[in-house]
Amino acid sequence: METKLTKLLGIKYPIIQGGMAWTSDAVLAAAVSNAGGAGIIGSGGRTTEWTRDEVRKAKTLTDKPFGVNVMLMAPNIAEIIDMLCEEKVAFVTLGAGNPVPHIEKFHQAGIKVIPVVPNVKLAKRIEAAGADAMVVEGMEAGGHVGQQTTMALMENVLPQIKNIPVLVAGGISDGRALAAALLMGAEGVQIGSRFLLTTECPAHPAAKQAIIDATDTDSTVTGFSRGHGVRCLKNAFTQRFSEREISGASQDELNAMGAGTNKRGIMEGDIVDGTVMVGQSLNVLNDILSCQEVIDRIMAEAQAAVEHIKSIKF
Ligand SMILES: Cc1cc2nc3c(=O)[nH]c(=O)nc-3n(C[C@H](O)[C@H](O)[C@H](O)COP(=O)(O)O)c2cc1C
Repeated sequence: METKLTKLLGIKYPIIQGGMAWTSDAVLAAAVSNAGGAGIIGSGGRTTEWTRDEVRKAKTLTDKPFGVNVMLMAPNIAEIIDMLCEEKVAFVTLGAGNPVPHIEKFHQAGIKVIPVVPNVKLAKRIEAAGADAMVVEGMEAGGHVGQQTTMALMENVLPQIKNIPVLVAGGISDGRALAAALLMGAEGVQIGSRFLLTTECPAHPAAKQAIIDATDTDSTVTGFSRGHGVRCLKNAFTQRFSEREISGASQDELNAMGAGTNKRGIMEGDIVDGTVMVGQSLNVLNDILSCQEVIDRIMAEAQAAVEHIKSIKF
């Protein structure tokens, strides 16, 4: 299959795996790349050394392109960027901060830059600043979310960005959603949650099972009223956090409550008092497959969805 994204990255299918703090390591990223998409190692919350080791490990596991997700507010940001330029990964996705000042440096190292953006204003700014592509991420997504839905972003952003490929993320877990994004004018999709439920993903089995057991209304967004929304499964922790958020707790208190909970939930399997970040397409997230099986199924479903559209008489 060919879109502007597959041509830009030299990949078979227009699917990239979203960088996911704690869970997207070399094994997951390489498995997605070997399956025809592009995997991403998540550097959020990690040391520069850990990230370098994972990049080197991924190079031994795949000869296909893979990327690294960089959280621009990370304390080790300068070090991480220098290291990635030395290691010359194929591309980076940039979130949680202003990507513009970093584009040139990555380009000089031959690394493609794909910022994650939540609105039209930033989308136009990063297109003008020379980004290679962008991801627009709706609030259906797992993890940190903005204010607009995926559908609203597709409506608002896609017709305005003419020169670089736009990928869509947030609540995309099957082939119907991929087909819908392509129909709307996207050149590809970024998928996070669906890749949590893979044999290659190191998430704790209890966290994977909690996602399988959850249905559409079982996620919530903590911190939304403070502009720091995080979508995750509802549990005792999110209940306590939301109560403190509503009763006007200080941001410092909320930050302290949240500290360490991501790792506790997704990696250590504490699904009661930890955070299990996941998107909203929970009825679709039902089984654990290999990354190859996930991508093959999504592509077959997308093709069936396109055939269905073609069969409709207008
Ligand atoms: C467990 C988890 C951790 C995530 N961590 C990050 C992160 O560190 N950096 C980032 O830019 N996005 C992060 N995301 C967002 C994903 O990269 C992706 O955009 C999102 O999962 C897409 O929505 P979906 O989950 O509905 O597929 C995370 C998502 C999940 C589910």
